[in-house]
Amino acid sequence: MSEREKAIGVFDSGVGGLTVFREMMKQMPKERLIFFGDTARVPYGSKSKETVTQYSRQIIRFLKSQSVKAIVIACNTASALALDDIEKETDIPIIGVVKPGAVSASKKTRNGKIGLIGTEATISSGVYERLLHEMDGRFRIIGKACPLFVPLVEEGLIDDPVTTEIAGRYLADLIDSDIDTLIMGCTHYPLIKDTIKKVVGEKVELVNPAYETALECLEMLKEKDITNDREIELGETPYRFFVSDEAEKFKTIANMILPYGILGAKKIAIEEY
Ligand code: DGL
Repeated sequence: MSEREKAIGVFDSGVGGLTVFREMMKQMPKERLIFFGDTARVPYGSKSKETVTQYSRQIIRFLKSQSVKAIVIACNTASALALDDIEKETDIPIIGVVKPGAVSASKKTRNGKIGLIGTEATISSGVYERLLHEMDGRFRIIGKACPLFVPLVEEGLIDDPVTTEIAGRYLADLIDSDIDTLIMGCTHYPLIKDTIKKVVGEKVELVNPAYETALECLEMLKEKDITNDREIELGETPYRFFVSDEAEKFKTIANMILPYGILGAKKIAIEEY
């Protein structure tokens, strides 16, 4: 298989990264994609930089064993805590979701007051603030960690009164602070975007970094001259899924998120990589 025809590896701590995966399916229909969800070790958002970096290194080794040509870290927490170190060690192109999310918010805001929701690790890393302030020193970023959103999504409680109740409590301060833009700084959150929208109201524009991430990935492939321009052959499945825990549960949620039914996911022992 030529370099161009190889797959792109995409990973997250769990199912959230599928929000980026589905955007990549849409924007680059000729690319083969491999997804890894670290469902045995989710959540990453309450773990240390060292742990998340070690997990990310293992996943990258696994993805490289599958001969991927590039990697997308479809996880804000791993992008915030591990990308800087990891990109120096990785000999294939790699991007995360934080920079695309910051770029997208900077284009959307009109009053410069930008809300940011994410995991505890992402919020306390300060990485979104740093990038946004490099773009415009006048931006004001109001961050709020929403740790319960990830387990709610992993449990499939996408449209549920419990999720609405929790969102109301988490987002109350942000609503009071006159933000006009809200970055969903965790790839799990776009799955509950209707609930978030209901709570923050029509005037606040939601930013889903997935769209810009897929765009940036495409740009990166073009720049390195490794886009695949051959049609996927009829009968070939261009998408493959791997997890570190029970595959059936992942399959059920993946089928709620992706635009087509997946046949299954393979469980692998990620700690061996
Ligand atoms: N979906 C991930 C993120 O974008 C990780 C959530 C978690 O594992 O805590 O941050």
